Amino acid sequence: MQSWNAVQYGKFTEQRMRPGLDLLGRIPTTDPEVVVDLGCGTGSLTQVLHERWPQARVVGIDASTEMLSSVPNTPGITWHQAEIERWQPDEPVDVIYSNAALHWVDDHGRLFPRLLGYIKLSGCLAVQMPDNWDQPSHTIPERLLESPVWPDAARAAFRRHPVAAITDYRRWLGEATSLDLWRTTYVQTLTGVDPVLEWVRGSVLGPVASAMNEAERSSFEATLAEQYRVAYPPEEDGATLFPFSRLFIVAIK
Ligand SMILES: C[S@@+](CC[C@H](N)C(=O)[O-])C[C@H]1O[C@@H](n2cnc3c(N)ncnc32)[C@H](O)[C@@H]1O
Repeated sequence: MQSWNAVQYGKFTEQRMRPGLDLLGRIPTTDPEVVVDLGCGTGSLTQVLHERWPQARVVGIDASTEMLSSVPNTPGITWHQAEIERWQPDEPVDVIYSNAALHWVDDHGRLFPRLLGYIKLSGCLAVQMPDNWDQPSHTIPERLLESPVWPDAARAAFRRHPVAAITDYRRWLGEATSLDLWRTTYVQTLTGVDPVLEWVRGSVLGPVASAMNEAERSSFEATLAEQYRVAYPPEEDGATLFPFSRLFIVAIK
């Protein structure tokens, strides 16, 4: 599993939280007893789940010691360190919520029906995943890594298109009584120097960079920054527009 850096990830809090809030806004559940946040990270959205359903037992699950070390100490929320691949609840739950985490887990054809299986009748599985592997933010590092100058381990660490076609999720969640599937492209306005590089440092680039030595990492990032500046040229006021597509799934059992 890749190591996570809470500080790097937190640099774009507003942009990273917004889809999670949009997802939450589409969950119709009114009075849940148990709510699980899968891949809760530093717990910012887990906290929002607790604020929406203060009577519920809210559980944040994440595999990363680093991310869990930054969660808030809020009565009503418990935190568990576990890998999603192996996690299962002790009892059926009302809501499983997962923002920007399940694209790090393989085999969605098994994962999604399994998660829906843990939910009570009328409960909800709500998931958001980035779905922009065909965009320059991802295709540029993927193409650069084809060169043999970079270590094999770095090439292997790059996560390639884990999100399936929208029709596959419909099939895998056939047990749901209602299914809401949609994709949104957020046109994010980033500021600062090389902001797209800064963004991917907190996500797909993390495991790649960990598999390089310092000199390789700095040379790779310099080439990447140069190509990102062409793909995402700064506007006259210095801002960089970074369109980012995300897939949303809200399944009611
Ligand atoms: C991009 S962060 C999202 C965090 C949080 N949901 C949010 O929206 O702010 C992805 C999180 O998923 C966790 N994660 C990734 N793969 C995981 C796995 N296989 N099992 C458990 N947690 C995992 C990471 O540790 C990280 O905290």
